[in-house]
Amino acid sequence: MPTGAVPLRQLDPHAVDELTDTAHKILAEFGSSAARPELLRRIAESTARFGETILHPCRPVDTDDGLYVLRGLPLEDSDVGPTPESWATAGDRAAAWDVILLLLATAMGHPIAWEGQQEGRFVHNIVPSPGHEAEQTGASSTVLLSPHTEDAFHPGRAHLLLLACMRNHDAVATTAASVRKVRLDPADVALLSRPMLPILPDDAYAEAQSFTGEEPPKVPALWQTEAGPTLRYDPAYTPLDEAPADYRAAYDRLTAELERVSVAVALEPGDILVVDNDLVVHGRVPFKPRYDGTDRWLKRASVRVPGRRSRPLAEADEHGYGQAALVALV
Ligand SMILES: [Fe+2]
Repeated sequence: MPTGAVPLRQLDPHAVDELTDTAHKILAEFGSSAARPELLRRIAESTARFGETILHPCRPVDTDDGLYVLRGLPLEDSDVGPTPESWATAGDRAAAWDVILLLLATAMGHPIAWEGQQEGRFVHNIVPSPGHEAEQTGASSTVLLSPHTEDAFHPGRAHLLLLACMRNHDAVATTAASVRKVRLDPADVALLSRPMLPILPDDAYAEAQSFTGEEPPKVPALWQTEAGPTLRYDPAYTPLDEAPADYRAAYDRLTAELERVSVAVALEPGDILVVDNDLVVHGRVPFKPRYDGTDRWLKRASVRVPGRRSRPLAEADEHGYGQAALVALV
């Protein structure tokens, strides 16, 4: 897998000062980063006062890479405390970063959360957890986390994902592959643009997995927009054996192409990787967990961008397996 050059957007010292000062003030005022409505409202008020020094680096992705790294926010290893053992015990650890992420997410769109994931938190902690090593979720470690669209099963999934690195001593790489870089022949594109198979809820959504309502909706893997193709892809949760052989072959060629164009990004502390979830599938290479408080630790925020037209209109009729996205009131 080649390591490609990832577009870098450097935050200037004024932007860094404004973001960190605002985050610390909000945290001092509320005492916790738990995202209750008053905190989200305060964040929206602060974001509305941001100038171009912050807003310009937060503009939409503007290359076929479909992602960028925001760099420049300082992070001292000793300031964030030990890596939590699981998201459930993370509490307010590195809470200033929760607020920074919510400020940036609000500058880009509307932060979202899920009732059924990490207790409805707007910022998730991604850490390796004992007993979950081989899962296809962010708590895994020793297996490859296969490239996927985040929350691909749901029509309310994020348009953008923000992954902030708190700690990554072993330079564990996040992988990313853009649909705008793959080469497929028109027959494969036509086939993969048909709603052939469902995408089932992943292991991070226990409730959605036991949803017994209507039939799972069949969805297209590819979609053509004026700006180029977008994708919705999660092979680990797609029942590919139910598809005809020609569809499976086309899907395999898409998988091979995504592998060919995949880049590996070893995030550094303070880096924020911003991924366009309609263009890019992301994953993670396997690693050996330490379980000693020094493990890889990311924080994740999800963003919906109002007015975006990157998806089929038919998605609006999907049931989403009974899961509801919670959208920050802004
Ligand atoms: Fe993911």
